[in-house]
Amino acid sequence: MVVSSAPGKVYLFGEHAVVYGEPAVPCAIERRATVTVEERDDEALRVHSTDLTLDGFTVEYGGQADDHADVDVPERLVEAAVGYVDSAAAQARDAADRPDAGFDITIESEIPLGAGLGSSAAVVVAGIDAATRELGVELSSREIAQRAYEVEYEVQDGQASRADTFCSAVGGAVRVEGDDCQPIPDVPTLPFVIGYDGGAGDTGELVAGVRRLKEEYPFAADTVETIGDLVRQGERALEAGDLDELGRLMNFNHGLLEALGVSSRSLDEMVWAARESDALGAKLTGAGGGGCVVVLDETEEARTALSYTPGCEETFRAELDTDGVRVEG
Ligand code: MEV
Repeated sequence: MVVSSAPGKVYLFGEHAVVYGEPAVPCAIERRATVTVEERDDEALRVHSTDLTLDGFTVEYGGQADDHADVDVPERLVEAAVGYVDSAAAQARDAADRPDAGFDITIESEIPLGAGLGSSAAVVVAGIDAATRELGVELSSREIAQRAYEVEYEVQDGQASRADTFCSAVGGAVRVEGDDCQPIPDVPTLPFVIGYDGGAGDTGELVAGVRRLKEEYPFAADTVETIGDLVRQGERALEAGDLDELGRLMNFNHGLLEALGVSSRSLDEMVWAARESDALGAKLTGAGGGGCVVVLDETEEARTALSYTPGCEETFRAELDTDGVRVEG
């Protein structure tokens, strides 16, 4: 039996635009998905989750019992989670050249599902690591990132960047531009606060929505390019450790994402509550449509303001996690 974990992430800058080859800067945070894998003596795959922030589910399939889900999470999220795990298991079988291997997989996650904190990437990265090790193969974090990206690409119908999976596999703050993924050295302390509205956007639909908008309206294509320019400016601010400038650029980035139609009322309300509390900056993180905002704030004020904001269900501090995927225990 092998237990591996991998971190979730926030986007400092660049979600959505990264899908079209613009740069993005995601940062791993100290909230992890932990995946336990035990090889079975048959070819089946059994997936059990006690804690995908909500009520958990058990699904057995692969020539075993019919799919069944005892769940309060939306069905589409369960289907997506099963799709990711299924595909991660296939990657492990391929890496170990064991096409018939079966697994019992248990997922525990501190990362809300579909909320912009990279839950699926963390589960896939930890799952590939644990399953390959269980089959006696040890992959580098870059190899795991590559295989996890292939999973996201497949499950998200070809609309995925390498950002979430690379960040979760290697940890820290990273820069992703197309196929080029690099860790960013010497990142200053980034005092993040997360506000979570309890909801979840549909990444596939949101990404498809931006694509349609881009095809129909030249302003949307320009907006995607502008986000790329903003990210390059953000990288310079990060290098200089200029938190005031980082915050301003986060605010601009949120406005541009709003223009692309991926924000929501609760995300906007949380962003405004944070700004009015004098936070350095605030934006939605991830695909949007609901889920989380990330706030740069050196005091406790933004967190307090968020906790009183209608629509905000949970707030927490999120320290940068310099560790990527790792074996537990
Ligand atoms: C989702 O966490 C981030 C998006 O940019 C999609 C992707 O990068 O694959 C919206």
